[in-house]
Amino acid sequence: MPVHIEKISEKDKKEVLAILQSFWGDSKIVVQIEIFDALSLDGIKAVDNNKILGICHYRISDKECEILTLASLNPGQGIGSALLNEVEDIALNAGCHLISVTTTNDNLNALGFYQNHGYQLAALYPKQVVISRQLKPEIPEIGYHGIPIRDELRLEKVLK
Ligand SMILES: CC(C)(COP(=O)(O)OP(=O)(O)OC[C@H]1O[C@@H](n2cnc3c(N)ncnc32)[C@H](O)[C@@H]1OP(=O)(O)O)[C@@H](O)C(=O)NCCC(=O)NCCS
Repeated sequence: MPVHIEKISEKDKKEVLAILQSFWGDSKIVVQIEIFDALSLDGIKAVDNNKILGICHYRISDKECEILTLASLNPGQGIGSALLNEVEDIALNAGCHLISVTTTNDNLNALGFYQNHGYQLAALYPKQVVISRQLKPEIPEIGYHGIPIRDELRLEKVLK
């Protein structure tokens, strides 16, 4: 698929917000008791014919990169992989030795996707989403595959 990856810029704000809203209700992302406004993070987009088909936001700190959003509007066509490869390259070029991501227990697609890309389970935070809901009450009770959203799982990949 001829998507290309570019940095998200200020002019993308409206389109990116609409994507964030469709996946997470709004631009607020809660990860392990921290709350982020994704619109204020560094991000990349997958673009085809001037349309954004996927986004990924991340932060880099202390030589580690943390993925905070990754979403694909056309699953199963390589968009998520292209974004993941690019954010790993960005992290490597910034001198990072580790990249991580946190997802929830219901997100079986993401758990498979990241593991197929070399990520390993690194930590389980049981019932963490109960705390996340205090910061973002809109987090639904039921997630993918009808599974109650309850726990957070952190995956990591050593970069080389
Ligand atoms: C997880 C997610 C980002 C993956 O994005 P995607 O665009 O479907 O990713 P890809 O197409 O690159 O890969 C998905 C699968 O399709 C397969 N695939 C990739 N390119 C393909 C192609 N051209 N034809 C057929 N299959 C393909 C991959 O092997 C992959 O399989 P796997 O998940 O078993 O590893 C996407 O499912 C998503 O947006 N989920 C909702 C948001 C979310 O939960 N994000 C993660 C938490 S941050």
